[in-house]
Amino acid sequence: MAKTILELNNIEKVYGEKVKTKVLHGINLMFSEHSFNAIIGQSGSGKSTLLNIMGTLDNPSNGYVEIDGTRTDRMNKKALAKLRNSTIGFIFQYHYLLPEFTARENILMPHRITQDKVPKAVSDYADELMEVVGIADVKNNLAGEMSGGQQQRTAIARALLNKPRVILADEPTGSLDSETTDRVYELLKKINKTYGTTFIVITHDRRVAEKTDRIIQLEDGFIEMDVTT
Ligand SMILES: Nc1ncnc2c1ncn2[C@@H]1O[C@H](COP(=O)(O)OP(=O)(O)OP(=O)(O)O)[C@@H](O)[C@H]1O
Ligand SMILES: [Mg+2]
Repeated sequence: MAKTILELNNIEKVYGEKVKTKVLHGINLMFSEHSFNAIIGQSGSGKSTLLNIMGTLDNPSNGYVEIDGTRTDRMNKKALAKLRNSTIGFIFQYHYLLPEFTARENILMPHRITQDKVPKAVSDYADELMEVVGIADVKNNLAGEMSGGQQQRTAIARALLNKPRVILADEPTGSLDSETTDRVYELLKKINKTYGTTFIVITHDRRVAEKTDRIIQLEDGFIEMDVTT
């Protein structure tokens, strides 16, 4: 049995003060290390809410998240931020690159914020990742002057720089055409195999979901289906 890297225990989410709407109804899920998981479900079913709670970007109204065996609800803010930064990488539908900076600068941005000089090992790893995601030849181009697919691959490299054990992705190819989507997913699979990174990916694309290890379907805040393929 593979080790559990992320676990959701009876997660509930209620939005609103006066009018309360429950959008997650007691979700229990365990994710194995090195696995590739898809989350599907209709618009409004609670996918993004669940992913944000998994990544500790948002708090559940009830229940708790365990990352690598540690209950995150009992951690202080600083310790949690440290665990999150060292364990989880995020990829969003819109990549939030800084258009005035080059691809390489964007990938190294987290390091530029926290320290003056980027260590050589980190800088070399950024170059390796840019090779892996196939943007080595445009790495000194401004992000704002790259194609959508190149920008998305830059965002993937940026998410990988800290060697996260888990990547949480919310519609990572939502803004791309189907051919580029296929290429990005091949890349994510390659990263999953090469680095053993666990992936939990929200997708609207059933064709994409069917190529993963496990499909979890949400419906109105409940788990409607959970199949290992
Ligand atoms: N900040 C918020 N305040 C109030 N309600 C919210 C908030 N965010 C989401 N919701 C509601 O919670 C429900 C689940 O939203 P969520 O964004 O998780 O859905 P989703 O499955 O990601 O949908 P989509 O596929 O459209 O991205 C929806 O009914 C939505 O209107
Ligand atoms: Mg969403």
